Amino acid sequence: MSEKIETIGVLSSGGDAPGMNAAIRAVVRKAITNGVKVKGIRRGYLGLLSEDIYDMDRKSVSDIIQTGGTILGTARCLEFKEPEVQAKGAEICRKHGIDGLVVIGGDGSYRGAQALARNGINTIGVPGTIDLDIACTEYTIGFDTAINTAMQAIDKVRDTSSSHERCSIIEVMGRNAGYIALWSGVATGAEDILLPEKYDYNEQELINNIVKSRKRGKTHHIIINAEGIGHSTSMAKRIEAATGIETRATILGYLQRGGNPTCKDRYYASIMGAYAADILCAGKSNRVVAYKHGEFVDYDIEEALNMQKGIDEYQYEICKRLSQ
Ligand code: ADP
Ligand code: F6P
Repeated sequence: MSEKIETIGVLSSGGDAPGMNAAIRAVVRKAITNGVKVKGIRRGYLGLLSEDIYDMDRKSVSDIIQTGGTILGTARCLEFKEPEVQAKGAEICRKHGIDGLVVIGGDGSYRGAQALARNGINTIGVPGTIDLDIACTEYTIGFDTAINTAMQAIDKVRDTSSSHERCSIIEVMGRNAGYIALWSGVATGAEDILLPEKYDYNEQELINNIVKSRKRGKTHHIIINAEGIGHSTSMAKRIEAATGIETRATILGYLQRGGNPTCKDRYYASIMGAYAADILCAGKSNRVVAYKHGEFVDYDIEEALNMQKGIDEYQYEICKRLSQ
């Protein structure tokens, strides 16, 4: 850990998330307020390796708090998993005078930050992912915008589904995690919610539910399917064949990752970005910012990566009862 931080870098990595810009703005402006220079690194670790690095000032982050995406760009850079590439990344930081780095991203990006810390660069991670799948924190930047986008889209599909008396499968993002499916499903009164963490692939049970709800007089049947389960189109075909009820699949896809961040995303991103700049300037390293039990805190990266979280059993069970 270096004595006094003079220049910090900031990058975004992995899947982008609405609110990342608010976090970048907060990092830049809080660091400058603390008397520290800031350099932006474009396209995550890929841009670090190609030295796509530029000086930032307060004005560099004007007019971005309300925008989706990330002004720094983002990328997946698989070669950054190699120890010699990580050492090169640290060397490039030193060459550019960067003695501290804020990494905005998910678990994978944290591993990259941890590797740089091992190579002598002070690093702090900020949770940026729409998936809410970082165990150490109850909040990740982008989740609130994504679930609201999904909710509005599902409401629209529900209108037409009811009019046509169809069953609709709506696939939401979440390769490994079902939080977007759970939240958007509960908020739209979906009849079935399929989560990668819970789904037992018992399609017959799903079919029985559809037939039962139709007999009870429901004009629609909304199934929220998480991307991690996928195969919504073929599932729709099988359900239609088994029930005789017209069934359509809608895959929401990337529209969930864009758009203007909600107030909540902007707020949390602003506090977390500023917090990251502050602890970095105070000499902390190899830490991640988190929101836990109503407070902003930080954890050692290794400790954070070893934490586990899962879908709450009560919330999952209750959601099934509410839509019957
Ligand atoms: P997220 O950060 O959202 O979890 P990824 O898992 O795709 O997204 O990781 C983003 C980037 O972080 C990767 O493309 C790679 O550059 C870096 N990364 C991921 N895993 C590691 C690792 N084990 N060691 C070093 N860097 C990693
Ligand atoms: O940002 C997280 C996420 O949206 C996951 O839910 C999804 O599986 C993944 O990113 C897809 O991202 P890409 O297609 O950009 O690799």
